Amino acid sequence: MADRVFCIDFGSAYTKVALRRDPTADSELLSWPNIDFCVPSTIAVDRRGTKAKLAFGDEAAGQESGGGIDVHRNWKRSVFLAPAVARPTQSPLEALLQSDDLLALATQYGVPHGQIGYLQQMVSSAKSLIGGPGGRIISAESQQQTIATALAAHFFHWLRQRTMEACAKLPTTGLKFEDIPVRVAVPAFAKDGDDSHPGRKLILDALDKAGWPLHPEQPVVAEPYANAIGVLTKGANVLSRNGRLNFSDMFSKGPLITVLKDSTHHPSYRALVIDVGAFTTDFTALTFKPVGVPVLMPDSGFELQEKSVPFGVSDLDEEMRLALKVSEWPVKPTWTDWTKVQQSVYSEGKGYRAPGLGKVVGGPADSEAVQACLSAFTKRIADETTAFCEPLEPAFTQELILTGGGSSIPVVRDALQIAAKAGGKTFVKTHAPDLKRVKGIPVDKLDEQFTRGGSALGGASIYFEKGYY
Ligand SMILES: Nc1ncnc2c1ncn2[C@@H]1O[C@H](COP(=O)(O)OP(=O)(O)OP(=O)(O)O)[C@@H](O)[C@H]1O
Ligand SMILES: [Mg+2]
Repeated sequence: MADRVFCIDFGSAYTKVALRRDPTADSELLSWPNIDFCVPSTIAVDRRGTKAKLAFGDEAAGQESGGGIDVHRNWKRSVFLAPAVARPTQSPLEALLQSDDLLALATQYGVPHGQIGYLQQMVSSAKSLIGGPGGRIISAESQQQTIATALAAHFFHWLRQRTMEACAKLPTTGLKFEDIPVRVAVPAFAKDGDDSHPGRKLILDALDKAGWPLHPEQPVVAEPYANAIGVLTKGANVLSRNGRLNFSDMFSKGPLITVLKDSTHHPSYRALVIDVGAFTTDFTALTFKPVGVPVLMPDSGFELQEKSVPFGVSDLDEEMRLALKVSEWPVKPTWTDWTKVQQSVYSEGKGYRAPGLGKVVGGPADSEAVQACLSAFTKRIADETTAFCEPLEPAFTQELILTGGGSSIPVVRDALQIAAKAGGKTFVKTHAPDLKRVKGIPVDKLDEQFTRGGSALGGASIYFEKGYY
């Protein structure tokens, strides 16, 4: 058990760090000048000098690859790549070279069979050269994974320095922030468990190497689970007088508490979390079926179903850059400029005054092109939502949680709310940014802190400290 904890939500585009500085202090997001609490997970490696120079976060985000600089924007993906499946010992090329068909063709073209023998030897020598003395072929994926893991250690080291800087600015508490352990939020497929995903170990090793003390019992948590806890508790950590977790107050006596207290009338509960991120859209159903007497130990009872689709706001960005002819803008938008484009063009339906262009783009004049990009993006996300939700067995009490930067785009959010009802589902409450109450169904309007920082806040929750149960 830890009385205090940091939680890192390592996003593929943005990393968020939350702190719970005391058992009953609210979890809070750490922030920095210029970037608020969303730190770009970007790393730039400048190889132009004799020694490679690394830049991270906002400093790296504005750089572009080329001329000796490598910019890594989506390296989280490589860390969590599944282990490569055992490769067949014989490659298709070797099979072809050793086939009778090739010999027949050789005869047809008048190639002496001895030359085919040389060709076979050449390929086999090339293979052992690439594979090294052990003869193991190093796949492109495992090379990427090795690079990404090395990058991770550097990134977390830098993040630790920034975190300590941010903590030093907090109102003085006399706390030794360096000793506070860390928990990291990882994709649900790499969560804690018997068949641990190798990405989980790689991330923990990188954190350890970077000097972060790991949480003694639960150093990792699944992103969507942490997200649901962050949104449902609003980062509140409450203990009862007896020093035990006060679930009721932490969850503001919400639907989950109703189910926990009265399982006869509320036999099942589900939080459906849809996180529209930069590179992936993640769907998770957290289902809870209480058994028998009222339980106040939800954590062990949650069942997780998950799907991660490699499609997110960065795909919309690509289409939008083409539609708005960004390549023709005299001054190319920086990373900060582009976040303004996302905000005003995607979310507010307003245009953006591109520097040097002398006109507004993405406004009414470009409405048709913008709408076409938004509709295509929305359609894909909605179709994926239907595909995930339709087969789910209905739960008695369901809440819908829409998070990630993409959920702030009104058309996306509206389409998600409709698609999530696939298979006749209903929700007692919806949590999402900028919601308006329709037909008396309770809504919880999430601000930016919970839309984007929910996983970090939830991961820092006392909910994950079993010592208080
Ligand atoms: N209001 C908004 N309108 C449009 N896009 C937005 C808005 N706010 C944030 N975004 C963008 O949404 C994207 C996703 O942000 P988020 O913080 O959810 O990413 P992430 O967690 O790093 O991604 P992933 O979940 O894929 O790892 C980013 O590109 C962000 O700039
Ligand atoms: Mg995310």
